[in-house]
Amino acid sequence: MTETLFTHINQLVTPSPGRQHGAAMRDLTTIPDAAMLVSEGVIRWVGPRPGAPASTREHDLGGVAVVPGIVDPHTHAVWAGDRLADFEARVQGVPYEEILALGGGIRSSMRATGAASVDDLVALARPRLQALRASGATTIEVKSGYGLDFDAEVRMLRAVRALQSELTLVPTLLIHVPPTENRAEYVRGVCHDLIPRVAREGLAAAVDVFTEREAFTVEESRAILQAAKAHGLSAKLHADQFHAIGGTELACELGALSVDHLEASGPVQVAALAASSTVATILPGVTLHLGLPAAPGRDLIDSGAAVAVGTDLNPGSSPMFSAQLALALAVRLNRLTPAEALTACTVNAAAALGLDDRGALMPGQRADFLALHRPDWRDLPYTLGANPVRDVWVGGQLVSIPGVSR
Ligand code: NIG
Ligand code: FE
Repeated sequence: MTETLFTHINQLVTPSPGRQHGAAMRDLTTIPDAAMLVSEGVIRWVGPRPGAPASTREHDLGGVAVVPGIVDPHTHAVWAGDRLADFEARVQGVPYEEILALGGGIRSSMRATGAASVDDLVALARPRLQALRASGATTIEVKSGYGLDFDAEVRMLRAVRALQSELTLVPTLLIHVPPTENRAEYVRGVCHDLIPRVAREGLAAAVDVFTEREAFTVEESRAILQAAKAHGLSAKLHADQFHAIGGTELACELGALSVDHLEASGPVQVAALAASSTVATILPGVTLHLGLPAAPGRDLIDSGAAVAVGTDLNPGSSPMFSAQLALALAVRLNRLTPAEALTACTVNAAAALGLDDRGALMPGQRADFLALHRPDWRDLPYTLGANPVRDVWVGGQLVSIPGVSR
């Protein structure tokens, strides 16, 4: 059995495994002068260097801080075309929702993506995902949702599958915006054709719905997510991005893995999440890029909810190619403490994907970890606009040195 003892870790910092709620999100374990034993991609031992078990192979990490790999629980990294004209219009005052209502925005990405082949989509998504990984993301969720029709949705998911040999990806079927005509027929087709097909072919782990005035109603979302559950797929929602129309309450009622966005959530939605096991995933890139109010991260944690953070990497609302930047912005925009932000981006983000085998540097967890450039882990939430991550390890293997993708 090949095992490696990682040594010369100035500080090993980790949350506890599994979903952490409220004040427990601040409970990190910090081990100075640490070592970590890894074999077969799994952590076997962590502790102070002087007590480390003997190992035939040692790897000196050079006296820096080590933290768990980031889990990015929310991306739309597969798209074709661009939204540069939307961006220019928006910064001059045209609202995102108005661009969408006029047939642009998400619908323009759907036209370009619907016309692309699987190979085109793979080539477009690869460098985006490599950028996320170089920023520290060791597991990345990727949604479909820009398919003009069901075949295009499936092509997006096939592109994600093709990239799974290179990166650790979790695919989600996103039911994003309804067609302008025959909406009821479309929802029936999603429930009776698309979801069964995706489940049969094992193309997604979960189904997500955009519950919003310009997208799906609560009742349509409920029907879609019940079909998902009937086919063994987990439920997720995009909700309360612009208007709190009941998506968060539906997520809690259905026991969804997560409800994401929450920029328009108020005390009722915060209370519903605090009383549930659904993870509240916040997306500071959207606040920055669209100028929306920040999701109530501080209130959610103070009320006892489990908060995760994602990039929401997509061309329209969050062109954010760094998971570390999402973590750093959650501290500034959503008022998480640095410790809470680390938990939000690791074990809680994993829980938002239904995973409890990663996100903590503890025996039995996957050996997904980051060696920073500096000896103090707080460089991770502190740094803006440069990459504090020196190297990225997935399953105990070095996969990315920022600036060098391989
Ligand atoms: O998570 N809000 C809906 N969906 C995406 C945006 C997609 C887009 O603008 O292309 C989001 O923000
Ligand atoms: Fe999204």
